[in-house]
Amino acid sequence: MKPLRIILCDSNEALPKLWKKYIPQAIPKNNNILCIHHGHLESLMQLIREGNEKHAGKSYAIVSPGNSFGYLGGGFDLALRNYFGGMKFEAWFRKQLGYRYHTVGSATVIDLSKCDLEVTQKCRDGMKYIIHCPTMITPGKPIFDKTSPIETGYKPAFNAMWNALMHAPKDIDGLIIPGLCTGYAGVPPLISCKSIAFALRLYMLDGLISKELRNVIIIYFLGHPYKPFFLDSCKEECKKLGISIEAIEKFDIEKNSLNDILPVNLEIEGE
Ligand code: ADP
Ligand code: NA
Ligand code: NA
Repeated sequence: MKPLRIILCDSNEALPKLWKKYIPQAIPKNNNILCIHHGHLESLMQLIREGNEKHAGKSYAIVSPGNSFGYLGGGFDLALRNYFGGMKFEAWFRKQLGYRYHTVGSATVIDLSKCDLEVTQKCRDGMKYIIHCPTMITPGKPIFDKTSPIETGYKPAFNAMWNALMHAPKDIDGLIIPGLCTGYAGVPPLISCKSIAFALRLYMLDGLISKELRNVIIIYFLGHPYKPFFLDSCKEECKKLGISIEAIEKFDIEKNSLNDILPVNLEIEGE
């Protein structure tokens, strides 16, 4: 598997600060696959256009933490709309989504190379896709409720990131991702950041731990413990990897560290 470059970009400085603290642990060492950009999408695009060595990829997908209908009138989506051609672009984008309701937790890949607007083709540079991952039905009110942080914070951010990674087209070099659920959705940056780190870490472990064990770790992380899904084969694997079964079963996202339920000594290999 060719390692996908992960480019995190946010204009709110709290995000890049936390990402720098939490994300590098999730990424293979001695590898140039992580880039953390503090600034507006526009400034990141500028770097990419200039072919700055750090960004010398060829084709990218951008994650849109949108609403269920693909309106692009606010937050990171507004930056996308401004960049790709304004209201005409929004109209094209919504048409690609079939003008229909897309549930929170879904992901739809929009192929920008198919866009018939000249303005979009002129400015899109290496941007090949937008992955529409709605984090809210409408931006009417924040989704976060501090009395249930897992359900309304960790889970939606993890799901959006997981979906973006699982739907990332094979023909891209890099994935551009803003803070997820940290704008209109109102999830605290630390919560979103931990979820993103976790999703990335599981993604990078692909092929190094079984898919079944990965599923088990996800259900306990998300606070949906269920012993029948914790297969004996996974318990065997835990023993081999030095992961404590008890630590998984008792995992509490707010108290425990990801290192408690992930194989820490496993070499994640870079390219
Ligand atoms: P959500 O509904 O998931 O909260 P938003 O689009 O409202 O999505 O916000 C997601 C993140 O995008 C926030 O962390 C916000 O700071 C960031 N953001 C908003 N506008 C820009 C921009 N022009 N460039 C970079 N990041 C931005
Ligand atoms: Na959103
Ligand atoms: Na948005």
